[in-house]
Order: sequence, then C-alpha cells, then structure tokens
Amino acid sequence: MSAPRGEFTSRFGFLMAAAGSAVGLGNIWGFPTNTASNGGAAFLFAYLILAFLLAYPALMAELIIGRHARANAVTALQSLATGPGTRWFALAVGFTGIITVSFILSFYAIVSGWMIAFFFDPLARMLGMDGLAAWLTTDGSLRNSLFLILFMLLTIYIISAGVKEGIEKWASRLMPSLVVILLLLILYVFTLPGAMDGLRAYLVPDFSRLADTSLLVSAMGQAFFSLSLGVGTMLVYGSYISKRENLPVIGSLVALLDVGIAVLAGMLILPAMYVALNSGVEIFDAQGGLIAGPGLIVSVLPALFGTMGVVGVFVALAFFALMTIASLTSSISMLEVPVAYGVESLGVARRKAAIVVGSIITLISLAIVFNFDPWFDRVVTYTTEMSQPLLGLAFCVFAAWIWNRNGVLEEIRQGSPEAADGWFFRIWPFYVKFVCPLAILVVYFQ
Ligand code: TRP
Repeated sequence: MSAPRGEFTSRFGFLMAAAGSAVGLGNIWGFPTNTASNGGAAFLFAYLILAFLLAYPALMAELIIGRHARANAVTALQSLATGPGTRWFALAVGFTGIITVSFILSFYAIVSGWMIAFFFDPLARMLGMDGLAAWLTTDGSLRNSLFLILFMLLTIYIISAGVKEGIEKWASRLMPSLVVILLLLILYVFTLPGAMDGLRAYLVPDFSRLADTSLLVSAMGQAFFSLSLGVGTMLVYGSYISKRENLPVIGSLVALLDVGIAVLAGMLILPAMYVALNSGVEIFDAQGGLIAGPGLIVSVLPALFGTMGVVGVFVALAFFALMTIASLTSSISMLEVPVAYGVESLGVARRKAAIVVGSIITLISLAIVFNFDPWFDRVVTYTTEMSQPLLGLAFCVFAAWIWNRNGVLEEIRQGSPEAADGWFFRIWPFYVKFVCPLAILVVYFQ
C-alpha cells in the first residue's frame, strides 16, 4: 500500500519526541499561571495526582493502540473494530481527531508566530532598528500572517523529512536545548529582587482550594491538553515505537518529563512576574488575579526584559527561543497526525502530504488571523474544550471496551514479558474502563 513505516531508532529519540509533543505553550504559559491563580501548591498537588491517575492511563491507551496497530489513527482504531458498528465508530473518531488536531494547529501556529516575532525584537533593537522592533511587537494582521507562515514552513520542513530524519532528529536536538535554556533562565531570575515572593506565590499551598471543583476541573483539562491526549498524536507516535520497548515504563517517563518541565516552568514564570512587579510592571488584572492570557507573554515579560538593560536583550532572546522550541516540537506532533493518514491510507508521498496538509492548515490559520476576534476563541473552545475530551473518552472506550483484555496484554508483553503480573496491568484496565471515562464526563459537564 505504501512506503515502509518509520520507527524511532532509540528510546531517547522517542522520549524527546513524545516529551517534545507534550511540552509546549501549555506547560510554560498555561501551567504556571493556572497554578498561581488556583491555590499554588494545592493545585500542583491536584495536578500531580490527576496527571498520574487519569492522564497517564489515557496516554497509555493511545500508545498501546498505536504500537499494536503500527498505523495512523484511523487505521489503528479500525483494526480494533469488532463489527460494522464499531468500524464506523472508528472511522468517525479517527477523522474527528484528524480534523480537531488540524484546527488546534491552526491556532497554535498563530501564537507560535508571535513567539518568533518576539524573538526577533531584541535583535532588531540591538541593531538600532527601532521601527522594525515596534512593528514586531505590535499586533497586526501582516505581522501575524508572516510569522505564522514562517512557523508552518518550519513545521512542514521537519515533518516532510520523516520520523527518523525529521521528528526524532529535531526533537533530540531541540529538547535538551530547551531544558538547558530553562534552567539557565531560572538561575538568573532567582538572583533578582522579588523572585522569592514569586516562588512563594507559586509554591505555598492554600489547601482550602482543594474543595473547589473548578480547581479539579482546570487541573484535569490542563493535564489532558499538556499530554497531547485525545486527538491521535500520542497514538501515532506510539505506532513508531519499537516492539522491544517496555511501554508502561516509557509512558511514565513521558508523563514525568511533561510534569517535571511544567513544574520547572513555574519556577521561572512566577518569580519573573514578581521581579517585574518589583520593577513597577503591573502583573495583576482588573479582577486582582495574575495576568495569565496573552498579556503575560507579550506585555508583562517583555516589560520586565526592558528593565534589564543589555542583559535583558539576552534574556529575551533566550526566553523566546525557549517558547519557539517548545511550540515547534509540539506542532510537528500535530501535523504528523493527518500526514501519517495521507501517507499510509491514501498512498501520498510524505513530502507531498506534508506540503498539502500544511498549506491547508496555513490557509485556515490565515483566515483566523483576518477574523481574529470572532474566530480565535471559538476555535480554541471547540477544539480543546469540546472535541478533545470527548475524543479522549472515545480512545478509552476503544482500549477498554471494544478491544479485548488479552489483546492489550499481548501488546504490553512485547518488550515487557512480565507485564501480566506487574502493577500496571493490575490497575490500568480498571482505570481505562471506568475511572477515566467517568472523570472525563464529569469534567466535560462542568
Ligand atoms: N501538549 C502541547 C502543549 O502543552 C500541545 C499539543 C501538542 C497538543 N499536540 C497536541 C494539544 C495534541 C492537544 C492535542 O502545549
């Protein structure tokens, strides 16, 4: 039917790719402010529990189905079907996943484009091109269009090179750089006045907030978005894992890396915000909460960097490089979902599939840029709050209700022969069958 499938060549390569998908704007931007405005360490505590008890089992469902079928999301789900009804259901879920992830990419690319524009801002100022710098940091359709196109070109370039030469190679380069930049920035910000107040706001728990259901709901939503669940991303990455790998172990490493980097990002963002406060930058919004939306990244932090003089130029460069890297390793995992389908099921050459699908998504993105106010928020809400949780539910149904237990066990046994007696297989089926679907429904109807 098509060319031989790609495969990750090492455990490290897979971990970097999957952690790269998981670690994105959601971790560096969403998680820290969510934590600070929801009771600090109390939220962190809820998040850690939910991530491991609910998101990790759902992640495993995708990885196991993917590696079992060794195919894109549509074909993989169809291979589990037991009759015409479930076959049809598989087709519907697979396609909804492809469409959802394409729309997620279409808004993600716009925001990632801002990160690239802000990366060039300190360079322009260093070269004395203040007019250019002002243009780069002012919201406008032309700037947004150019930078989202640039971002999509990078994404298409990596995906057209394939699993090994594209995804694995770039994730293995970019993710270690991300960790190094993050650690250096944290160390630097810790030396500045006000940083410790931020750390306190981040980490001192307000346990009374745990009784608040909205806290649990946002922790759960954060965990699902952050682990890239529900749209077939992890399923497709799972399909490129060697049969010799121990799935429960590498799945938990991915979850640990994702959570670990989110927690670290909090140690950068919150202290940085309080350092900004210390230098006279406004960090609270009209309701008295921390500024968390676009304002945080495009006004609070740049204002802070602006107070740092020459050092600020390098800090700004490092910070927006960090954001761009985090975005790019996530966006490639999104584009891979429709591309894998085009390559395997429609027989299109990978390069062509990447260019065609990437161009369509770029056009959707451009349409959103030119109709920003009515469309942007709507696309975010429909994809991440409505479609993604329901699809997550559907993946759990496939793994635990449609597929049989023996099939799952067979798949885990490859690479982990002792699986049947391990803790994972004692708990996981129950979770995916009952706990995850129920939890997703509860969150959904909130
Ligand atoms: N997890 C990424 C983040 O935290 C975003 C992401 C990548 C994603 N792939 C996805 C979100 C698929 C939803 C679905 O930013």
